[in-house]
Amino acid sequence: MNLILAFESSCDDTSVAIIGSDYRVLCNLVSTQTDHADFGGVLPELASRLHLQNILHLTEAALRKTRLAPADIAALAVSINPGLIGSLIVGLAFAKSLAWSWSKPLITVNHMLSHIFANLIENPSIKPPFLALVVSGGHTELVHFTAHTSFEVVGRTLDDAAGETFDKTAKLLGLGYPGGPLLDKTARGGDPNFHHFPRALKRRDDQNFSYSGLKTAVREYLARHEAEFVNAHINDLAASIQQAIIDPLIDKTLRYARLKGLKTILLAGGVAANSALRDQLRERAAALGLDFFRPSLELCVDNAAMVGAAAIPKLEAGQFAKLDVNAFSNKGTKFL
Ligand code: KG4
Ligand code: ZN
Repeated sequence: MNLILAFESSCDDTSVAIIGSDYRVLCNLVSTQTDHADFGGVLPELASRLHLQNILHLTEAALRKTRLAPADIAALAVSINPGLIGSLIVGLAFAKSLAWSWSKPLITVNHMLSHIFANLIENPSIKPPFLALVVSGGHTELVHFTAHTSFEVVGRTLDDAAGETFDKTAKLLGLGYPGGPLLDKTARGGDPNFHHFPRALKRRDDQNFSYSGLKTAVREYLARHEAEFVNAHINDLAASIQQAIIDPLIDKTLRYARLKGLKTILLAGGVAANSALRDQLRERAAALGLDFFRPSLELCVDNAAMVGAAAIPKLEAGQFAKLDVNAFSNKGTKFL
């Protein structure tokens, strides 16, 4: 069993973890940057500076907590895309300098792939082929895995991501930041059929998603109704919007799984923490006799244990990065 020291700094969470090549997590420290709340969204420059402040302390704490020394570590793993470029560079520069000074191999991983591999931490026996629905603040992708290192993105959003839609519609409802968890909470006990918001690309025979129309529909609905009415029905409206976001995710995932005869579905990404999505996808997958996995809530958020998990197949295959490797933000990524 080899140990991987992993780093995550793609957005507003700095995290350092130590994980074994058997997916056992020895420690997974996450420092969430709460300073962005005052700005109503993540401020990239501030995020980079906070990563810089946090990453060394977290690494020292991880080694101290596990009583491990650099000599015990087999490799270093770090996210290089997608994400905020300044934030990614902090994690990558730090990982590179340790790789160089400790003479360890460096493994670079994709942040979205890491989210998917968070599932392997709690269920290491999951075997491809499987279909992964990965939904985060910036990405919404359906990925068909034929092996741990072999996959194809078979669907994606054509405009806004699901998490972004949670955040923006929550803001329109006046729920505040971060919108996703607040909309989830407000929707509990609300009636998802109170108002039918549009489900885009419903009849299209592919796995793509679109959310910009929903955002506009919510804005127009709110403009047509008095604040008093909206406040009186805030739970019902939150539940109706949430259902309009998750219905296409669930429908298209299950449709593709049936089309391809895939028996295993994995949910991943920050939006995988959404209670309605977790419950409804689990129930509907079970009704079709499919196996369904999703990470526990603490592994849905950005964390370095999942980065280490995604690095395991690369460590086993000896796929190491050169020290001149670069990070890239990959806006509108066409690949993982
Ligand atoms: O994966 P993540 O932590 O960061 C990115 O890689 O983008 O995902 C963050 C996204 C945000 O849009 C946040 O609002 C959303 O995940 N999110 C949720 C919930 N918890 C986090 N969306 C809906 N319901 C939740 N409970
Ligand atoms: Zn993420």
